[in-house]
Amino acid sequence: TGTMEIGPEGHLYIGGCDTTRLAATYGTPLFVYDELLLRQTIRRFHNAFQSTGAPYRVAYAGKAFCSIAMCQLVAEEGCNLDVVSGGELYTALTAGLDPALIHLHGNNKTAEELEYAVTSGIGAVIVDNFIELEMLQEVAARHQRTVDILLRVAPGVEAHTHEYISTGQQDSKFGFDMELGQAEEALRRVQSSASLHCIGLHAHIGSQIFDTQGFTAAITRMVGLYERALALGLSLSVLNIGGGYGIRYTDEDDPEPIERQIHEIVGTMRDVFTTRGLAVPEIWVEPGRSIAGPAGTTLYRIGTQKRIPGVRNYVAIDGGMTDNPRYALYGAKYEALLANRAAEEPSGVWTVAGKCCESGDVVIRDAMLPEAAYGDILAVLSTGAYNYSMASHYNRLPKPAVVFVRDGEARVVVARETWADVVRMDRPLRG
Ligand code: LLP
Repeated sequence: TGTMEIGPEGHLYIGGCDTTRLAATYGTPLFVYDELLLRQTIRRFHNAFQSTGAPYRVAYAGKAFCSIAMCQLVAEEGCNLDVVSGGELYTALTAGLDPALIHLHGNNKTAEELEYAVTSGIGAVIVDNFIELEMLQEVAARHQRTVDILLRVAPGVEAHTHEYISTGQQDSKFGFDMELGQAEEALRRVQSSASLHCIGLHAHIGSQIFDTQGFTAAITRMVGLYERALALGLSLSVLNIGGGYGIRYTDEDDPEPIERQIHEIVGTMRDVFTTRGLAVPEIWVEPGRSIAGPAGTTLYRIGTQKRIPGVRNYVAIDGGMTDNPRYALYGAKYEALLANRAAEEPSGVWTVAGKCCESGDVVIRDAMLPEAAYGDILAVLSTGAYNYSMASHYNRLPKPAVVFVRDGEARVVVARETWADVVRMDRPLRG
């Protein structure tokens, strides 16, 4: 995928850069993003939609990986940006993004975040619940602004993914419930609002989804609500079907290609809307993982080992759950290889453990690797989404650096933290 290859001396190259040199120059752990692959994936979404002729918008979900450079890249590639907090919004605005291209999400947006969004002239707010509806209405009125909103709906659809990242089912903290009539009630309240302009409906059913059935089911359920909104006199024009397009972490994963999923979504939209004699709305999607995930690789330096014959062999890296908590959180699986010996065949099974003080600090449970030695560089693949963005300072580990690579050049887009950064916000007991 992308521009990853085995180059001279059996080293792993990404974007024309020797990863062992990247590790030596910028240190480890290091997040390496293949810039061309990021751009190519975004273009695949655009091309897939454009080949259908349907009006659409792709909003990159910043939660997967958000930094100033990443925001700039997605804007360059003609994407909108979906942010979920004041911090992500601040990042995007600092990056110089046009506020009109930004959408704000979240099930518990604070008064401060709503104020910030409205005063910066954000493109749309995806309203999650009744309290937020009232708060936003008040903020918008006070600033004499009209705010475009979408209503987030829980469509009561199971996405068949990990429970923690499944969001469309009825028992969810997100959105207006559809079955109990909450969504319709929200539409009624918006209809009488002078400052809020409801432009559409939103549903996000989950993440790391492999088949399109969930999307099809959600669209089929949303069309009824959409029709009732029109009947109430609201002038909706958008159906946002969220993100969730799955990626391949290991051979066990077999996601439908992006093109297939988009074609299916567009096809379903056309079917269900035209069957009811309705104009097909603009289709918005919010991919995060599928854009950022495959383009990211984490480089670690291998340190100590522990062999327990007949039980398990451990090899330790200089990062772990602090930069990749996904095994600890979801039992996620990854593939890895030795970046400095990339042409060598795996010879055994290793558990790749981190350096944190707990047994759950594992990045890969059973990795097939050559016999690793102290100082080898381990490359863990497809770590571009929800890794750096979920990184922590546990055990007071500084956060890694992030580089974008392209055409043999590397650029630091997030600098490595130092121990001084780790204590920067601390204040002494006295004095
Ligand atoms: N839109 C909304 C409203 C979302 O909640 C999400 C993800 C997305 C879009 C983007 O979904 P994606 O295309 O990335 O699947 N930390 C978890 C994933 C949490 C996803 C949260 N919402 C993980 O590491 O798997």
